[in-house]
Amino acid sequence: MFTRRSVFKPDGLKKLDFEYVPPRLPHREEYVERLVDFLRPIIERPGAISERVLITGRSGTGKTVTAKKTGEIMERIARNRGKKLVYAHVNCRATGSKFALVQRIIHQVAPALPVRGYGPIELLHALWDYLNEHDCFLLLTLDEIDYYIRTTGEDIVYELTRLTDEVKNVPQRINFIFISRNGGFLNVLSPSTLSKFRPQERFDFPPYNELQLRDILTERVKEAFNENCVSEEIIDFIARNTCKYGHGDARYAIQLLLAAGLIADRDGYPMVIPEHVREAQEKTDPRLRDEDIVVLNEHQKLLLLALARSLADRKEAVFLPIEEVEEAYNVVCEEYSKQPVGRVMLHALASELKAAGIIVIDSDFRLGLDGVKAEVMERFLENLLGKGR
Ligand SMILES: Nc1ncnc2c1ncn2[C@@H]1O[C@H](COP(=O)(O)OP(=O)(O)O)[C@@H](O)[C@H]1O
Ligand SMILES: [Mg+2]
Repeated sequence: MFTRRSVFKPDGLKKLDFEYVPPRLPHREEYVERLVDFLRPIIERPGAISERVLITGRSGTGKTVTAKKTGEIMERIARNRGKKLVYAHVNCRATGSKFALVQRIIHQVAPALPVRGYGPIELLHALWDYLNEHDCFLLLTLDEIDYYIRTTGEDIVYELTRLTDEVKNVPQRINFIFISRNGGFLNVLSPSTLSKFRPQERFDFPPYNELQLRDILTERVKEAFNENCVSEEIIDFIARNTCKYGHGDARYAIQLLLAAGLIADRDGYPMVIPEHVREAQEKTDPRLRDEDIVVLNEHQKLLLLALARSLADRKEAVFLPIEEVEEAYNVVCEEYSKQPVGRVMLHALASELKAAGIIVIDSDFRLGLDGVKAEVMERFLENLLGKGR
């Protein structure tokens, strides 16, 4: 069979996914080392203390990938020493409730534990018992914790840390990496949570500069693309534009690289050329953070698509009344064969999208999109929902 040549290696697309953890992290290796050094007592003096560290930094500064890499290394060190350490990573944006959050933790740590029929606090205690019975230590990353605290409240942090703080004379088994885009959420914690939270160490990741982005892109190109398909000139071009338009957000750089490669394939080019990058830029908005949209639930996505379509049709409008968006939403639901939710639920969905920083709502509860072109959002969601027009 004749297969068309692609600029990507056979598994190249996977290497450009935001979930992927590359073997090397240029310009974050030092942070990984410092984190591992800080967390090492979990393995060397198991149970002595519950370690807590906070990582802050704007989006695309490598917080998530650095925490995951640190987790991998910690698991490996523990394994080599014959100790049991599990790394679990929970994105708080993807978990709507306390129960869902605890469920996700358990799913990664002890998938065999039954979760149905228990409340979140009971589940936490079951988790604690499990760790004790298996002489196992947990390194838990609560990613985007500020979002969780803003939308769901602070009590989960309180409960999780209390779990480890209240027990005396038994080993400490749960250690935390907290991740947040900024430290502002610390100010809203109550004194009792704050005293438990007490991160002993804090790392603030600076945005990448052009040279650093070039190193990151160079590594990723080697992993994901066939030889000679992406020149140094293209890498420089993407790095420069990421600084200029994307605030040094590594996610935007990788999105551009991926989109440019897909355009080269679409047009049957043997390599990526600058015009592909320019087209990719037109289609990719640095303010549209794919990972924030992917984790939305289905009806949040459908409502967002309805809003994007409505605004794309009404280009002069900043805000649209929810009734108008609701009509579009009902049409979208029909198109995707979903049962639409009622008015009250729709209001709740809109509020959640606002809390996630994806839409804006004015004082009359009219909805708007302020950072991203409506058509770009529309196309992105259609692809995501699997039925582009
Ligand atoms: N130093 C780095 N080396 C390689 N890839 C990186 C590096 N920093 C970030 N990335 C990549 O950039 C994207 C965004 O990084 P991420 O860790 O999700 O940022 P944050 O969590 O700070 O928003 C991911 O695809 C990630 O793999
Ligand atoms: Mg992240």
